[in-house]
Amino acid sequence: MSDIPFDQKPQKQGGPPILSCYDDLAASAAYGWSMLERGVKDRKSAFHTPSVATISATGAPTIRTVVLRGCDTPAKTLRFHTDTRSGKIAELTDNPLAAMHFYDAGAKIQLRLAVRLEALSGPAHQAAYDAAWQATRAMSRECYQVTQGPGSVIDDPYDVEFNAAETRDGEDYFVPVAAHILRMEWLYLAARGHRRALFDFENNTQNWLVP
Ligand SMILES: Cc1cc2nc3c(=O)[nH]c(=O)nc-3n(C[C@H](O)[C@H](O)[C@H](O)COP(=O)(O)O)c2cc1C
Repeated sequence: MSDIPFDQKPQKQGGPPILSCYDDLAASAAYGWSMLERGVKDRKSAFHTPSVATISATGAPTIRTVVLRGCDTPAKTLRFHTDTRSGKIAELTDNPLAAMHFYDAGAKIQLRLAVRLEALSGPAHQAAYDAAWQATRAMSRECYQVTQGPGSVIDDPYDVEFNAAETRDGEDYFVPVAAHILRMEWLYLAARGHRRALFDFENNTQNWLVP
């Protein structure tokens, strides 16, 4: 929980030191990107495990935690890894528009991203696919060696079967997913007044918003 109340009125107390990007739109965006880049490298960073929301066939949203595996700032693209048989893959195939959410309680910064998801499979993505698979560790590969599809109903929790040979070490079901960022919404909680901004990369606009 933040010790800064979410209130649009500036608070009287001083609060923690303010970031130099506080009143600077471009610097706020740059700070957001730096947090995403750090989220890939630093497992302790709050940005390492964002939430990804997709839309199910019923029209209802579904949401889950993933590990942030890549951030290509110039290309405005993030990457996470998943199982080809997972619900999120079926959902992004039907509707690639999705949302991602990050909150660092220490920094008091939330990012909400509007993204277009793209499974990096098939000949067009072979190089990106191979690079992502080569970088996965044995422990991560194990997840993809399960022979039943994730989310399958089982009678007993011990009924889960793993087979490295049958799944080519897990590669058969591994897929990297690119999240192409369309819009980034920045929210920085600060005692002297919160700062909220929208960076629209499709329309190339940036604006402060009322928090
Ligand atoms: C800390 C944490 C990290 C996770 N990382 C991933 C991930 O990188 N990829 C993934 O597919 N699922 C990951 N999961 C599991 C998902 O949150 C989710 O339960 C699973 O992928 C099934 O989601 P779906 O049925 O909506 O596709 C993670 C869960 C937690 C708690």
